[in-house]
Amino acid sequence: MGKALFITGTGTDIGKTYVTGLIVKKLRDAGLRAGYYKAALSGAETLADGTLLPGDALHVAHTAGLAPEDAAVSYIYRDAVSPHLAAQIEGRPMDFDKVEQDFHTAKERMDYLTVEGSGGIICPLRWDNEEHVILDDLALRLGLSALVVADAGLGTINAAVLTAEHLKMRGIPLKGFIFNNWTGGTMQEDNVKMVEALTGAPVLARVEHGDAALPMAADALAALYD
Ligand SMILES: Nc1ncnc2c1ncn2[C@@H]1O[C@H](COP(=O)(O)OP(=O)(O)O)[C@@H](O)[C@H]1O
Ligand SMILES: [Mg+2]
Repeated sequence: MGKALFITGTGTDIGKTYVTGLIVKKLRDAGLRAGYYKAALSGAETLADGTLLPGDALHVAHTAGLAPEDAAVSYIYRDAVSPHLAAQIEGRPMDFDKVEQDFHTAKERMDYLTVEGSGGIICPLRWDNEEHVILDDLALRLGLSALVVADAGLGTINAAVLTAEHLKMRGIPLKGFIFNNWTGGTMQEDNVKMVEALTGAPVLARVEHGDAALPMAADALAALYD
């Protein structure tokens, strides 16, 4: 039975998948058995025969050199909208018993399973007459601790601190932040200082545009999983 870590972000398109690719690669390059899991992916590319491609999982598998079966996605939806809405449109709601089972299967295959969220932490996964489930509910159900990917630039103090406060309110442990699209400079250095001061959690790495390796030691990274 392996360990797991939940990668969330301050919003969609913030770089969760990109950073997750570097995380899984770093663990694998250190000789650790590392895999990827995502419960719900929406906005999938559709092939001519109707096959939906799990873009995030394919990106991480490509970056980290994973076999396709080591980058599982439970629900793949076509429309590039929140999973709850994509599921409503397709009439295919998420079954969280299946998600839990898929998660445990993935975790058993690996020593270090990186679980990518959808959108930000307030991302509705299912909203119908039977169930109301947000991503934070799922993180709690799976017993995950979170690492938050945030942009390094203007606006990140607000977005990062709100995300941290929400995680704290829900009782989801926060391991720290990774700042993405780092360019440096006075404001970005101050963003690190202010986010750390206001949340009490560390900024663990600063990823630049186009980085091919996570600028963080593999053993410190592995220690975040539980
Ligand atoms: N550090 C980076 N360097 C280069 N491209 C990046 C970087 N971070 C994100 N991107 C690109 O920005 C887009 C959105 O990032 P992605 O990781 O898919 O976001 P999310 O998973 O949070 O929705 C993708 O095209 C991704 O390749
Ligand atoms: Mg993604």
